[in-house]
Amino acid sequence: MIYLDHNATSPVDQRVLEAMQPYMTSIYGNPSSLYRLGRVARSALETARCQIAALVGAEPSEVIFTSGGTEANNLAIKGLFVNSQVKKIFIPKTEHPSVLAAALSLKDPLAIEYLDVDSQGLVDFEIAPSRLGAGLNFVSVMMANNETGVIQPIAKLSEYFKAIHSAIILHTDAVQALGKIPVDIATLNVDMISLSSHKIYGPKGVGALVARNPELLTPLLFGGSQEHGVRAGTENVPAIIGFGKAAEIAQQSLMTRSEFLKQLRDYLEGQLRSQIPGVMLFSEQVKRLPNTVQFAIPKTDGEMMLMQLDKKACAVSSGSACANGGQASHVLMAMGVNEALAKSAVRVSLGEMNTKDEIDQFIILLKSIVNHA
Ligand SMILES: Cc1ncc(COP(=O)(O)O)c(C=O)c1O
Repeated sequence: MIYLDHNATSPVDQRVLEAMQPYMTSIYGNPSSLYRLGRVARSALETARCQIAALVGAEPSEVIFTSGGTEANNLAIKGLFVNSQVKKIFIPKTEHPSVLAAALSLKDPLAIEYLDVDSQGLVDFEIAPSRLGAGLNFVSVMMANNETGVIQPIAKLSEYFKAIHSAIILHTDAVQALGKIPVDIATLNVDMISLSSHKIYGPKGVGALVARNPELLTPLLFGGSQEHGVRAGTENVPAIIGFGKAAEIAQQSLMTRSEFLKQLRDYLEGQLRSQIPGVMLFSEQVKRLPNTVQFAIPKTDGEMMLMQLDKKACAVSSGSACANGGQASHVLMAMGVNEALAKSAVRVSLGEMNTKDEIDQFIILLKSIVNHA
């Protein structure tokens, strides 16, 4: 099996699995329980909180565990709007569906202002100050796009918005950036960051919202007082321990991992250009994640390509894993790519276990599918 879809999810690192196991068998206490078994679970959970905070340069008290990136994005958006003075939210058209749909769910009187992107996918954030509403404004821009890998200049964007308006809350969805490029809350100068474990070789179903001011958030779930009272429910201890371990490993290996991925990605791009006539690489002129390549072979169908590759035991994605049903990618459409070409799109996202040999095999498979199409 050649797995080339790490932006969809990544396999759990063996060290992560080993760290999690005791918390499913022997150390199964509820972290809210006062006796020893509970206290040991609590202490491990707090260690994980520190590991995640360290990876993004935040304080442990700013980390709110969630069930993943989707819940973190929903908590950032919906949690802020309920009972708050925010009247406007600014989001690029190329955001992940968990941001777009969470914003849409707020309905009126909230005004969603969509930000355009250019042909490379970079957000046009220098908006006229008159577009901002009175009172608090909320801006949510993803750090790196899950389909194209395009990295947005969040620090610059934040500087711009904070200079034109005094009451701005900035959020970035860093689910895809985490573990691939540095993510630092102070450098980015944002108020909230969404994270997910399963993109960094941790388990699925766990993530975090890192919030400078958690007290501004109204919970999505009510019940116990877990997670500063912002997210009720017994914590998923084994998954959180796994996320913490994955974050620790990501911090230690960030530079080597990212350099390795970049070299492999550059090799893949070189092979695509030289071996696949007419191939088009999206967003190739701008900074992208070191592991992501989205390309199109004109007059082919991305989903057909995915299915054909699957038959040969090779996993890639056509656009985003969440956007199925044969619809053209909303990200590419927002970049002005025509519908036919957008439907040809294939995304390859590399991981630390991939090899040059696998890339060669992938190119051979791709060529044979194109030649028989
Ligand atoms: C950019 C981005 N944000 C959010 C999510 C949702 O994360 P999760 O799968 O943990 O809910 C994803 C998942 O693909 C993503 O790529």
